[in-house]
Amino acid sequence: MLIRSVELYKTVFEPGEYPEPKEREIAFAGRSNVGKSTLLNTIFRRELAHISSKPGKTRSVNFYLVNSKYFFVDLPGYGYAKASHQEIKRWQSLITDYFKSRPNLNLVVLLLDSRHNLQKKDIEMLQWLQYYSIPFVAVLTKSDKLSGNQLTKMVNNFKKELESWGSPPIIPVSAKTRKGISELLNVILGS
Ligand code: GTP
Ligand code: MG
Repeated sequence: MLIRSVELYKTVFEPGEYPEPKEREIAFAGRSNVGKSTLLNTIFRRELAHISSKPGKTRSVNFYLVNSKYFFVDLPGYGYAKASHQEIKRWQSLITDYFKSRPNLNLVVLLLDSRHNLQKKDIEMLQWLQYYSIPFVAVLTKSDKLSGNQLTKMVNNFKKELESWGSPPIIPVSAKTRKGISELLNVILGS
């Protein structure tokens, strides 16, 4: 899949304020700071999404229109320890409402930090994906921070952990080296 054009189409802060669906929609989900916005910038080859070394940067649901027909959606991260109770509630209603409302959402790219095993919050997200029957692909981010051997070990760990979640494709990626980016785009296109 070649990215010919991309624009930030809509930024949504409240449940229900979504744009009309396009041909297909792919959402990027994962813990705060895992690298969702960075991955989108890497895919787009443009600094469209705001990123930060501090967790909790993306607070809205951001719709990027790709090639005039796909939405790539940057979701606010979950599991941000310092978020207030109110902020967590807002996040939950935004995300659950989003999952319920998008008829053309046919793939979630679930980002997991390649250096850590599945966390409690990731399992909650897996339960949601299962509940809403949304297919997903697991992307292991920041793979440049691991040696080849360490990465192989982590990929095998994730393979085992994700067996009970339908054995999705697992793709290690890096925004630094662009590792895995074209593979991910092929999976998105083939889905
Ligand atoms: P929220 O918006 O808070 O949910 O976070 P996010 O998942 O969008 O993370 P973001 O893209 O803002 O990146 C968080 C931090 O991780 C930034 O400091 C990035 O530079 C860093 N980062 C992201 N991807 C990579 C990567 O592939 N390699 C390395 N070394 N750092 C990365
Ligand atoms: Mg972000």
